[in-house]
Amino acid sequence: MKLIAVFLLMTLCCSSFAQSNITKTEGKGWTITTEQSEYRIQSDGKQAVPVYYGPKDYGMFGWSQRRDFPVNEIPVRGGTADKTPILEAVYHDGVRDIELTLNKEEIIDIDGRETLKLTYSDSLYSLRVVSFTRVFPEYDVIEKWMEIENVNSKHDIKFENVKSGSMFLQSGQYILTHHSSRWGCEFILKSVELSAGIKKIFSTNFQTFQNTPWFCLNKVGNENGVWFGELEYSGNWEIDFNMFNSGQLQVTGGINFWDTDLTLTKGKKFTTPKICMGYCDEGQEGAMHRLHSVIRNEKLPQNFRNVCRPVIYNSWYATTFGVNEEQQLKLAETAKEVGVELFVIDDGWFKGRVNDQAGLGDWTVDRNKFPNGLNPLIDKIHQMGMMFGIWVEPEMVNPNSDLYRKHPEWALHFPNRYSTKIRHQYMLNLAREDVYQYLLETMTDLLSNHKIDFIKWDRNRGISQPGWDAQYPREVRIRFIENLYRLIDTLREKFPNVIFEGCSGGGGRTDIGMLNYVDQIWTSDNTSPADRLFIQYGYLSGWPANTMVCWSNNDQYTEPKYSLEFSMDVAMQGVLGIAQNISRWDTDTKGMAKKKIEEYKQIRNVIQNGTVHRLISPYNQQREALEYVSQNKDTVVVLCYNFDIRMTDINLDIPQLKLRGLESGATYTMGGTEYSSDALMNSEFKWPVYGDFKSKVLIFTKK
Ligand code: DGJ
Repeated sequence: MKLIAVFLLMTLCCSSFAQSNITKTEGKGWTITTEQSEYRIQSDGKQAVPVYYGPKDYGMFGWSQRRDFPVNEIPVRGGTADKTPILEAVYHDGVRDIELTLNKEEIIDIDGRETLKLTYSDSLYSLRVVSFTRVFPEYDVIEKWMEIENVNSKHDIKFENVKSGSMFLQSGQYILTHHSSRWGCEFILKSVELSAGIKKIFSTNFQTFQNTPWFCLNKVGNENGVWFGELEYSGNWEIDFNMFNSGQLQVTGGINFWDTDLTLTKGKKFTTPKICMGYCDEGQEGAMHRLHSVIRNEKLPQNFRNVCRPVIYNSWYATTFGVNEEQQLKLAETAKEVGVELFVIDDGWFKGRVNDQAGLGDWTVDRNKFPNGLNPLIDKIHQMGMMFGIWVEPEMVNPNSDLYRKHPEWALHFPNRYSTKIRHQYMLNLAREDVYQYLLETMTDLLSNHKIDFIKWDRNRGISQPGWDAQYPREVRIRFIENLYRLIDTLREKFPNVIFEGCSGGGGRTDIGMLNYVDQIWTSDNTSPADRLFIQYGYLSGWPANTMVCWSNNDQYTEPKYSLEFSMDVAMQGVLGIAQNISRWDTDTKGMAKKKIEEYKQIRNVIQNGTVHRLISPYNQQREALEYVSQNKDTVVVLCYNFDIRMTDINLDIPQLKLRGLESGATYTMGGTEYSSDALMNSEFKWPVYGDFKSKVLIFTKK
């Protein structure tokens, strides 16, 4: 009887979704479930308090928080709360204390996904706050964000902090894994044990070189149960891990409000970026699979979401700024010969761009370099059967440019203060509507007047001196990013067939926020193959292989130890590109490149869209092995690499590979030999690579 009553109550509270993942237990609160996780929020109709997030059916914590953790679902600056607030406001009369009361609790449908919508208002002032928790059950992921509104007060409300969400984890000893890196050495993984206090990963210059907005947590002694997350934002951001003496952990994330505030006038709303969080009991590898799937299936721009990325040739390292038609065509001919599908002319093609000290801002073709414009080159590349791509850096301006001479006020600056030039350039103030309109117009002209199939959108410096002569000058960073997204979005709508690649002096702008608008990301300016093995390994923690652009380049560091074959095998881990000066290639080299590109084309769907297993980490051994399994498990690609093996005492005769994720009970063939999937997964397979900086591509096919 009791059970039936509970069932009826639960059914009444449920949404129209056939199988609801958000349920209410009357008098207790909300439970949000995914395949492997459970998130529980206690609610008494006035307050919502998170009580549990972790493995499913872990009901022993019941419905109340321990007293030493007085944290609400939306912790605010107000009352006695001393944990990390995600909402801090100043009302017109100087009151800096928020008191939120829950008004409404609903399950709504946002793009086919169940979403818990909790609406609060301040007891006295005209502030409405809505928190959203959207669930992706099959990926064990939830998304959180907030909307704030000055409902109808004639008085402004100023916000000094508005984050996307807060998460509460039960007490434990937690290990945080995050990226701790720098330019040319991006996505390096670092693990630290958290102790009482706040550990913050963040950006204050718009760049993701130091940290990226990705994290993974596990408890000491249990590497399987992991909490993971990513913020979907490309401006200044922060994620804080606030561990209390009790061992309980509060994770908060969102826009970094350092030197930032936000004002809402009557009737105005603001929506935060989303933070995506998950829990699974399959370790960091499971977290990676879930993030890859969410990004591939739910986040990437729809027009190329399920399309394999083309093989790129990019001429940057071959020709830098000294580009011209004849030389680019020569490169294009070899590119075509070896099987490249997309030819990209990088920096240097536009007016006045003789070196990195001039030209940014003037997005018309340099007639000294291309007297007949770019169209003859583009036509010839199209006639060769390749797509044509071009590099731009719209957010930037060189002092030596027509744009700066005409509009020096468009560059971010403070009056009476020195403006820092980085790489001889300033950042435009894209928060300004006139700057937005100028960029929209010039990019539209570029794309309308040329048959361009691909844009590489670079940004070679971080933000500095962000002065803005506007009513709310400290909103500059937030408005800049809003306009950046709006700009790319508008261009994509106007030119839906153009592929966009994001870039920032390498991988300095890597986040899901950007991946809502661009199809892929240039991972690093460091193309040295051995370094790339670390960089790419770390990239894959947060983002899928079909977004990871990798160029083969055994020229950059002129070290003879890297063969073209090794360099190309490394670049095959994601979206394959070539960066060498290929016009110097002899017949044998071209033959090798052609063979490798043909091989890549056969397996690229598995690499770009399959499930990746990181079998051997370069952090642990002088080797690396990545395995990619196609969605239907028919094809398995294993990429194996040796570093300098003389440094180790590896006995090459010992079998040392165990595959994962194969179809159980199936037979796979490789090189004419048959293997049972159980043998491949359970007994170790002999390490197939001999020699320093050598590699092997193994392809297993299901019988
Ligand atoms: C930085 C990028 O990462 C490079 O690939 C190249 O496009 C240069 N900028 C061009 O200035």
